[in-house]
Amino acid sequence: MLDLLHRPRRLRRTENLRALVRETRLAPEDFILPLFACAGENVRREILSMPGVHNLSVDQVTDEAARAYDAGVKGVILFGLPETKDEFGSGAYQENGIVQQAVRAIRSAVPDLVVIADTCLCEYTSHGHCGVVREGELLNDPSLELLARTAVSQAEAGAHVVAPSAMMDGQVFAIREALDEAGFEHIPILAYAVKYASAFYGPFREAADSAPAFGDRRAYQMDAANVREAMHEAELDYAEGADVLMVKPATVCLDVLRMLRDQFDVPLAAYHVSGEYAMIKAAAQQGWIDEQRVMLETLTSIKRAGADMILTYYAREAVRALAQK
Ligand code: PBG
Repeated sequence: MLDLLHRPRRLRRTENLRALVRETRLAPEDFILPLFACAGENVRREILSMPGVHNLSVDQVTDEAARAYDAGVKGVILFGLPETKDEFGSGAYQENGIVQQAVRAIRSAVPDLVVIADTCLCEYTSHGHCGVVREGELLNDPSLELLARTAVSQAEAGAHVVAPSAMMDGQVFAIREALDEAGFEHIPILAYAVKYASAFYGPFREAADSAPAFGDRRAYQMDAANVREAMHEAELDYAEGADVLMVKPATVCLDVLRMLRDQFDVPLAAYHVSGEYAMIKAAAQQGWIDEQRVMLETLTSIKRAGADMILTYYAREAVRALAQK
């Protein structure tokens, strides 16, 4: 007779047995919903490549945030589509900029919802790059000042957290210093520490109208082939005062996420980006996959790899799916 001492299948026989030995559990608190604020009133413009995601005027983005909070989502991250753009992205740091307006409106309508502001210039610059451009080159140090000004203005508007995503060297330190000087030493920085130059951001650039007018972002975002460099980036952001380290995109970088988890004792975030969302949506619309199961399996894999929080366009659907269980 076959004498098998260890039979892992014994613990898989029923759903309740499986639940007892489950190692990773998704919870509503895990998710942060990205929202895109635009000018106007009563505007609700769906993004073609991201079914279910919209450009929303301030009144609508406020309603959307309130509905997400009622459904159980605890945090949102805001991006802005300004009415006009210029060379220096001044719409990013105006007191009455689109994100500043949205932050104020959401804070007053849904005071307990965590409001995170994405701190970058690409949605606001005429050339679509994430900082100051001169003769076709993105200049690092002059961009820092503008990013710091943006973060302070977002904090003044009431953002609970700022999230620098421009991938400029020294941006976390510059922002930390500026926040502290302005009396915002209590505002945490969620750093896009490891952000690859990824083709998976394609649909976002439609949503945020932020495609670069020339060239691409490879001179500042990371090469997807590199992992030692990812550790270096994370170490720098940690040393510069980041409170949370983020890896982006998520599902194609689970190895990187795991590496950071083993190395750092601060909370980790992962951004399940626009292209990752769009691929699931598209296959589901064709009837080729079970959308809810693929979504939950994907989000579980991101958490299993080490993320404490997941930025995802699926935040609301995920919370809803968990409530059904
Ligand atoms: C801004 C920014 C981008 C994303 C988040 N912040 C676009 C980019 O870097 O080109 C991408 C998010 C997504 O694809 O969902 N710099």
